Amino acid sequence: MNKKKLTVFSAIQPSGHLTIGNYISVLRHWKEMQKKYKCIFCVADLHSLTSLNKEDNLYKRKSILDTLALYLACGVDPHKSIIFIQSSVHEHSELNWILNCSTYYKELLRMTQFKNKLTNVTKKINAGLLNYPTLMASDILLYQTDLVHVGKDQKQHIELTRNIAIRFNSFYKKVFKIPNVLIHNFGSKIMSLIEPNKKMSKSDFNKKNVIFLLENPKEIFKKIQSSITDSDSPSKIIFDTINKPGISNLLVILSTLSGKSICKLEEYFLGKSYIYLKKEVFNILNKHIIKIQKKFFIYRKDEEFLKNISFKGAKKASKIAKKTLNSVYDSLGFLEKL
Ligand code: TRP
Repeated sequence: MNKKKLTVFSAIQPSGHLTIGNYISVLRHWKEMQKKYKCIFCVADLHSLTSLNKEDNLYKRKSILDTLALYLACGVDPHKSIIFIQSSVHEHSELNWILNCSTYYKELLRMTQFKNKLTNVTKKINAGLLNYPTLMASDILLYQTDLVHVGKDQKQHIELTRNIAIRFNSFYKKVFKIPNVLIHNFGSKIMSLIEPNKKMSKSDFNKKNVIFLLENPKEIFKKIQSSITDSDSPSKIIFDTINKPGISNLLVILSTLSGKSICKLEEYFLGKSYIYLKKEVFNILNKHIIKIQKKFFIYRKDEEFLKNISFKGAKKASKIAKKTLNSVYDSLGFLEKL
């Protein structure tokens, strides 16, 4: 008998350019995942409004199409999966309001990502940043998702999503499936190059911390060369995230992209220099990036093609989303949607 495939949902915000952190922790798995699961991949443009960055907003449409083209370049196939842009399916915004009313203000205040943003960002913070996780919950719950594929830093948001869904189901009627988190533990958090104790982030002001998927190889080479290692002499290439965060990060990048285990790599690098390690990291990264960029530029040139994919994806997504939202309205005692 044919067992029904589980539904996986994932999304990335199109703010700025995607990084090798996005690729290693999430994107690179999507091609394979399509074989096993029914996949729904979303470009979370509504989420990107939470960063009040003038430059970001100036290039919003470009970033959205770039992100879509990168999904395709990384092997997402619109014949196998649903790919769509969040703002094209208005049910996300509608459910967001309803779920805000099933979420406690204090739960949102407890979110680590929000607390970090509060301390790191000196600029004004909008209310969307606080409500960010309820919009994520709407994304996930609209599709009766079984598994949410994310990097480690998003785990807390998925736990909150589960709590919101459980609360809603017991307060009103059982409408939502309770999703589980899917995290590929190894490589699910790539650290910054100069400050290897913090996560690599596309919105980092110090661009030396970040490698972008669309960056030119010469620039990538320079960034890896100037990444922070340590002053152990002779060089000691071992995996130790506490005492050697920079070296460990480079080893994780190398291991995930080459498929070689950390143990094997430690053996291989015994007695070798940090410069040698950096060269190897560049070589493997460059191999992946060249492949992605080649495909990216082909897809990106044809905006009509991209818009058509997004249009068809939104149609499929909205069919599922509408059904869930109708059940939500019904359970709330609202009148049926026409
Ligand atoms: N917040 C996620 C990130 O920054 C992106 C995202 C938006 C998402 N909605 C989602 C991820 C729903 C998983 C499920 O990476």
